[in-house]
Amino acid sequence: MFYPLARSLLFKLDPERAHHLALSGLDRLHRSGLSRLAGCAVSAPREVMGLRFDNPVGLAAGLDKNGEHIDALAALGFGFIEVGTVTPRPQPGNPKPRMFRLPEHEAIINRLGFNNGGLAAFVANVQRAQFRGVLGLNIGKNADTPIDKAVDDYVTCLTGVYPHASYVTVNVSSPNTQGLRDLQAAKQLDQLLGTLKAEQARLAKKHAKQVPLALKIAPDLDLKSIREIAKLALEHRFDALIATNTTVSRDAVMGHPLAKEAGGLSGRPLFSPSTEVLRELARALKGNLPLIGVGGILSGADAKAKIDAGAALVQLYSGFIYRGPDLIAEAVRAIGSAGATR
Ligand SMILES: Cc1cc2nc3c(=O)[nH]c(=O)nc-3n(C[C@H](O)[C@H](O)[C@H](O)COP(=O)(O)O)c2cc1C
Repeated sequence: MFYPLARSLLFKLDPERAHHLALSGLDRLHRSGLSRLAGCAVSAPREVMGLRFDNPVGLAAGLDKNGEHIDALAALGFGFIEVGTVTPRPQPGNPKPRMFRLPEHEAIINRLGFNNGGLAAFVANVQRAQFRGVLGLNIGKNADTPIDKAVDDYVTCLTGVYPHASYVTVNVSSPNTQGLRDLQAAKQLDQLLGTLKAEQARLAKKHAKQVPLALKIAPDLDLKSIREIAKLALEHRFDALIATNTTVSRDAVMGHPLAKEAGGLSGRPLFSPSTEVLRELARALKGNLPLIGVGGILSGADAKAKIDAGAALVQLYSGFIYRGPDLIAEAVRAIGSAGATR
């Protein structure tokens, strides 16, 4: 209701500054008990990965990288919250400016580069949160960890976040960490998934708690790679796939003055390529593994289209920036009971 005004003020500021201002404003609203003015929960429960979700519309990773705003974000009505990506050690990310709005396309380009406060601070923040709904913790590798040691970073992060997560997302698809997306290649992925599943079994015993693992992939994959990823995810009994992260393609924004900025493109131009990857995954998986659809959801109809393409759940990031909290309830209503049995 208030978002159009807030947005017109925030969009006058540098995107990263606006981001931090908006989140601290949201925290203040939440602490004063007024966050219901900004959004409200819509109940449409469903079970996926053995977890009960209040509704199928979640917050995508990257908006709250350090897990500092979980309660305020959850109060807006998301059915689940994913925070991170966290890396073992703190790191500053890429030099600024590194985040750009393309309002004509309802899009964002970012090359933040996993700026975050590191695993210890992340876990402390997550532990402080009161939220008792489904909380996904998204893990990655440090920029200065050699790619052949990447598995060690994922194991460190998985071990640290495991006791505090409803599910853990293994992010191998950010375009802003050199070499990261190469982990999606069959040989590397086979090793990564195998190691993480073995760790999951060890941690499940230790903590007497089974925490599902989801793999988040890029939209810039050919059909052969998509099918290989689906096959490996099934073979290793991963618990879900998240499609997709941001794209390095600029086809849909060609000619825009910011199109040449390096980084990942998200928002409306990502909807079609990302939904195509989702559809191909669904074809390959034949209902044997749940899918979370993310990329370019700007309306209720977009959210429903992700479910129709095979997703059991959806996530929002750029649409939430452009449309505000109203998009959450709109998406929940548009999805209705569709896909509830996936
Ligand atoms: C500024 C920004 C930062 C992001 N950071 C992360 C991140 O740290 N980890 C991650 O898995 N995805 C990250 N993403 C990707 C989103 O989670 C999502 O997959 C992508 O933006 C597509 O959804 P959208 O079109 O709704 O934004 C980021 C996206 C944006 C725009």
